[in-house]
Amino acid sequence: ENQLSAVPHRYRKVGTMIIAIDGPSGAGKSTVAKAVARELGFSCLDTGAMYRAVAWRALQDGVPFDDDEALGRLARAHDIAFAHEEGEPVPRRVSIGGIDVTDAIRTAEIDRAVSPVSAAPSVRAALLEQQRRIGRAGDYVVEGRDIGTTVFPEAPVKVFLTASAEERAHRRVRQNVDRGVGSVDYDEELTDIRRRDDQDSSRATSPLRPADDAVRLDSTGRYIEEVIEDICSLALRARERADAAASTSTRSAAAGGSLRTEVRGASASDSSSGTAETVADLMNDQEGSCR
Ligand code: DC
Repeated sequence: ENQLSAVPHRYRKVGTMIIAIDGPSGAGKSTVAKAVARELGFSCLDTGAMYRAVAWRALQDGVPFDDDEALGRLARAHDIAFAHEEGEPVPRRVSIGGIDVTDAIRTAEIDRAVSPVSAAPSVRAALLEQQRRIGRAGDYVVEGRDIGTTVFPEAPVKVFLTASAEERAHRRVRQNVDRGVGSVDYDEELTDIRRRDDQDSSRATSPLRPADDAVRLDSTGRYIEEVIEDICSLALRARERADAAASTSTRSAAAGGSLRTEVRGASASDSSSGTAETVADLMNDQEGSCR
């Protein structure tokens, strides 16, 4: 129960897949990650919420932000749990040590506390373990800062999502107005975004940077739907590659058998019809929803 509950979905039969979405704060990662998860029937893991939950607990307990050991102890002692509604891939609530902190982690105070807390190496080590355990349970869109570089370096789809600092500040102000929390002063938000970019990219452990094989998407001035479509297409291509590789390895394994021609023929047609169906399913679903 301390893990994201696995959501049943139509891709389960072809194995698990991670879509890593990294980028600076305010680039639109959360919106995009949730939408992609819904389109593809994946679950969604917001790793920033986990760092925020630890920062919240540290503030409650008065743990100094430069005490790596105490912060690490705290992160290991309190499990972070995400609660889903039935059949919904995006969790509705987040809790730490059994306390619901869904709203409490979205304040300006936590915005300030989370950078130093997330820079603590032992906090990162504790959360890395939890993130891997959760992500390996199924198909996940995982968003954060170091997903493609550190948490899931083997992810077949890696996106580094950016937007100009000015655009991100505008978005933040709009978001804060809508939510009724946080600053609505553009200059203040711009300064805060630049400060967090600096802190996130200059820290020693897992700094914010694109993985070498990440696809860079700049969302400045683009419709969110286009960005979502780009990522869905990347996921589709990765799935096709994985299916093609699986069918090739089935064929070459069969080719090594003693009843070579017969086994090979049967096995190749079995696997290719299975593959064709899977890819076609995916294509149809994609065409309906993602284009
Ligand atoms: O995405 P967010 O704003 O909710 O993230 C909150 C903070 O956590 C942000 O300052 C960066 C940090 N973070 C991190 O260091 N590594 C992650 N994988 C996710 C977030």
